[in-house]
Amino acid sequence: MRKSIIAANWKMNKTPAEAQAFFADWREASSSPCEIVFFPPTVSWQPVAQSAQKTGFHWGLQNAHPAESGAYTGEISLGMVKAVGANYVLVGHSERRQMFGDTDEFVAKKVAAAQKNGITPMLCVGETLPEREQGRAKAVVGQQLKQGLALADFNRPLSLAYEPVWAIGTGKVASPAQAEEMHEFLRRQLTELGGEKFAATPILYGGSVKPDNAGELAQQKNIDGFLVGGASLEASSFSAIVKAWKK
Ligand code: PGA
Repeated sequence: MRKSIIAANWKMNKTPAEAQAFFADWREASSSPCEIVFFPPTVSWQPVAQSAQKTGFHWGLQNAHPAESGAYTGEISLGMVKAVGANYVLVGHSERRQMFGDTDEFVAKKVAAAQKNGITPMLCVGETLPEREQGRAKAVVGQQLKQGLALADFNRPLSLAYEPVWAIGTGKVASPAQAEEMHEFLRRQLTELGGEKFAATPILYGGSVKPDNAGELAQQKNIDGFLVGGASLEASSFSAIVKAWKK
């Protein structure tokens, strides 16, 4: 049995007070069969960590630098992520790749540094619309996977998220068949890279997941959960997505 994970990527939303208010309305975590993971903005980690302790979910940060320490103004290290009690870190999100210049090489260093610090990296991969239209989606995603895992330890925890860039924040979700085709492809790549055990790495789908499309996506064989942006900002819609998860 593979692990199922439903994750909330809050991006640059929610102050500490707003994060705390979210959990006043949040009841799902303890009753869900999935692992729930929240990715708050770094300054709002404390109310999330407090609720995580009470309700039994996991949390992580949205970015970290691979160096142990040093002159990197504005950055935090993976040792620091570990020190505040987080279990996960997002790596290679398309917004970081597109807006902040994160390359596959840099992504690979972050994956390795996270694993070394006992933090599970959630490595995000996904093609743009032109890449899909040119028939290059699998080539692009396969390359991001291989290069992103170039320094990884296949015996340490890892999770993946397939997030087609054209579906992020656009309301344009991949069809269940499109998503399943890519997840199945990623599963085969994982088997080739690290064998059967490594192929059980959870692969989440992300990109405009909403309460009304989550149920059908959840039925796909190789979809092990969701990485949810916009619809994770309200406790009611994120709860509805968690409830829609049935395998
Ligand atoms: P979205 O974002 O659900 O708002 O499309 C998903 C993500 O970027 O992780």
